Amino acid sequence: MQTPLTELLGCRYPIIQTAMGWVADPTLVAATGNAGGFGFLAGAVMTLDEIEEGILAIKSNTDAPFGVNFHMYVPFAEDIVDLCIAHRIRAVSYSRSPSARSVEKLKSAGVVCMPTVGAFKHAVKAVELGADALVIQGGEGGGHTGSVATNILLGQVRGGVSVPIAAAGGFRDGSGLVAALAMGAQGIAMGTRFLLTQESPVPDATKAVYLRTPPENIVVSKRLDGLPQRMIANSYLARLIDATQLGLLIRALRNGLAFTKMTGSSLWDMLKSAWRMRRGGELSLGQTLMAANAPMMIQEAMVNGNPEEGILPSGQVAGLINDLPSVEALISGIMAEADSTLEALNKHRNGDKHQD
Ligand SMILES: Cc1cc2nc3c(=O)[nH]c(=O)nc-3n(C[C@H](O)[C@H](O)[C@H](O)COP(=O)(O)O)c2cc1C
Repeated sequence: MQTPLTELLGCRYPIIQTAMGWVADPTLVAATGNAGGFGFLAGAVMTLDEIEEGILAIKSNTDAPFGVNFHMYVPFAEDIVDLCIAHRIRAVSYSRSPSARSVEKLKSAGVVCMPTVGAFKHAVKAVELGADALVIQGGEGGGHTGSVATNILLGQVRGGVSVPIAAAGGFRDGSGLVAALAMGAQGIAMGTRFLLTQESPVPDATKAVYLRTPPENIVVSKRLDGLPQRMIANSYLARLIDATQLGLLIRALRNGLAFTKMTGSSLWDMLKSAWRMRRGGELSLGQTLMAANAPMMIQEAMVNGNPEEGILPSGQVAGLINDLPSVEALISGIMAEADSTLEALNKHRNGDKHQD
C-alpha cells in the first residue's frame, strides 16, 4: 500500500511505530522496519553515545529506513541533529521544534522532519517551521497528549496543511488504518500497540498491567510535568495526585539530578537549556523544573518492571488490546485486515447498487 507518506519515508506500509521513552529501542525499531513499517528510536531518554549505538544496532539488523526522536531540552540537542545527518537518518521526530538553523540543516541534508502535534494551531506552526510531514495525536493517545479527539483533530488538520499526515491516538488494527485513510490521513502512527508486542523490551509484569486495564482507567494528568499526559491510573499516580507542592518540588529536584546523571550532562547545562526554553515562552518555570520528571518516573515501570512504583504512559487503546503478537504478525495482520475491510466495504457498495 503506497501513500505520500510511504513515499516520503521509504517504507512499504503506511504504519509508523512512534517513539516511546524506554520502549522504542533498536530491537523494536529494526523489527518494525523489517516488517515494512517505519520505526522511530526513542532518543529522548538517551545520551548522545547511546543514540549513536542505537543507530548502529538498528543498521546492523535491518536495511529499512528509520527515524530518531529527540527532545529540544537536552543540552546536546544540536549534536543529535548533526549525528542524524552524519548517519543519513531518514527522518527525525520531536514535539518541540529544534532551532530554525537545525531544521534548515536537517532538511538540506534530506532528513524528513516529522513532528508530533496535538492541536490544530501547533500543526500549522510546525509546518511554518519546516515540517515535511506530521504525526497528529488525538487526546486518546498515550504520553503527552492534547484535548481534541483523533477524528476531530484529523478533520481540522487535513484541509489546513499541505504535508502528509499520520493519524495517531487510538489505532491498533486494519479497520482503523482504513478509517484513517478514508478520513484524510496518509497513514497511522501507533505507540501503545507496539509497546504490547513480543519485541517490546517492557518487562512482562508491566505489560500484564497494560493488558488488563480497561479504557476508562487510562486517564490524563498534569502531575508529572505540568503538561497533560495520558497514563494508566495506578497507585503511584494516586500518590502524586495526593502529594503536596513541596513533595512535588523535592521529587522534581531528585528526578532532575537523576536525569542529568543519566544523560551525562551537568546540572548547569540542564538549567541553561531550561532557561532558554522558558525565555522562548515554551514552558513555564514550574514545567521547566518538572521537565525531567516524566522520564525518571516512567523508567521504574518500563525498565525496572515495578508497575506500581512508576508511571505507565498509555493510550486508551490499551483497553482494547489483549495480545502480544510479534511485530511481523502485527503489521502483516493489520495489512490483511485493511484489505478485508476494503473488500467488505466494496461489497456493501455493490449490495447497495443491487438494491437500487
Ligand atoms: C510508554 C510511552 C512512552 C512515550 N514516550 C514518548 C517519547 O519519548 N517521545 C514522544 O514524542 N512521544 C512519546 N509517546 C507518545 C507516542 O509516541 C505516541 O504519539 C502515542 O503513543 C500515540 O498514541 P497511541 O498510544 O494511542 O498509539 C509515548 C507514549 C507511550 C505510550
